[in-house]
Amino acid sequence: MKQNTIVLGAQWGDEGKGKIVDLLTENVSAVVRFQGGHNAGHTLVIDGKTTILRLIPSGILHNDVTCYIGNGVVLSPSALLQELQELANNGIDATKRLKISKSCSLILPYHVALDHAREKAKGKDAIGTTGRGIGPAYEDKVARRGLHAADLLDSEQCAIKLEKLAELHNFMLENYYGAEPISYKETLNELMAAREIIAPLLTDVAEELQRLRINNKNILFEGAQGTLLDIDHGTYPFVTSSNTTAGAAATGTGFGPLYFDSVLGVIKAYTTRVGAGPFPTELHDEIGAHLAEKGHEFGSVTKRPRRCGWFDAVSVKKTVAINSISELVITKLDVLDGLKTLKVCTAYENGEPIYTELPGWDESTYEMTNYDDLPQNAKNYVAFIEKAIDCKITIISTGPDRSHTITLG
Ligand code: IMP
Repeated sequence: MKQNTIVLGAQWGDEGKGKIVDLLTENVSAVVRFQGGHNAGHTLVIDGKTTILRLIPSGILHNDVTCYIGNGVVLSPSALLQELQELANNGIDATKRLKISKSCSLILPYHVALDHAREKAKGKDAIGTTGRGIGPAYEDKVARRGLHAADLLDSEQCAIKLEKLAELHNFMLENYYGAEPISYKETLNELMAAREIIAPLLTDVAEELQRLRINNKNILFEGAQGTLLDIDHGTYPFVTSSNTTAGAAATGTGFGPLYFDSVLGVIKAYTTRVGAGPFPTELHDEIGAHLAEKGHEFGSVTKRPRRCGWFDAVSVKKTVAINSISELVITKLDVLDGLKTLKVCTAYENGEPIYTELPGWDESTYEMTNYDDLPQNAKNYVAFIEKAIDCKITIISTGPDRSHTITLG
């Protein structure tokens, strides 16, 4: 693996990044999250055992890897504590190898309440957010009034800042949305309790990454969500509130742009999307239902069913360029097993997708580890996609386990 690699989703998220990050973590000293929050859901299956991570980087299951949460992440102290507890229940003491940027913006209960209140007020125009308070937390960050993780270290200052926020947000909740206010006292108490665990983890992530770089260590930057959910480049306003694209790996960690060596994009062999918003290749028929069922397409955080459709080569070609993706991983190829005909969107006419049809394959590709064993039509499908999006595919994933992987030279 190249030294400093960004791994990110090239569609609408849920491409299977968690497994890929976990796989690549074998070769790195550190894994860093740079944007988003616990709206992400990275599912790892190792030796049949499933772990779902939302906030903590997917490298945490490796003993000798340090995991960092960069400044671009919005951090919910209560979600972090819960995730640490879940890992502890599985025998993993994540606090030993987790470090958090002092400049992370905090997600507070006010943000969660506002997220819900706004979605409710939008009615049929709702975005379909994960309800984790992501958008309102980023709003506070950009408005320069949010709490940083470092604020937890000074209880007096923390109380003063929180009181101002509470006043503003409770005013909005009660008077604009007609929702219940959130107790300032309880929130402060929760923060102070969380401080005991979080304070020892706080650090200057940018400085630590710089030190690793100088010592020639490999670093993996783990994206969350996907390019089409990017606040600037995605299907606005049906997007998340962070930049999910490669540039955010620099701004969300303090690692200089020229220090990255490669960008690995992850694509699913078809397309899925959770929440509302445009999805031109969406299938509303039995094939869509088949993909959803066979691909277990339910959100790992919210358990919502994912919308399913054909692979969109036009949009992925764009995401390859936006992120300067150097190579791609294609996941869930096995989900297409048994389909007679496959379609790939290769053009748009008046906003409508134009498809190229390819023959499917009957054989099972599940768990395959050897490229030569793939049915010829599966090889053709992968090669067609490669050509259509103009980027080479170097890994094919044929199942959820670490071992269900074909690595191409
Ligand atoms: P938010 O990030 O909770 O504000 O949600 C905004 C949009 O992003 C919604 O359509 C969510 O379904 C979507 N979204 C957020 N996180 C993920 C993810 O990890 N995978 C897929 N979609 C996501």
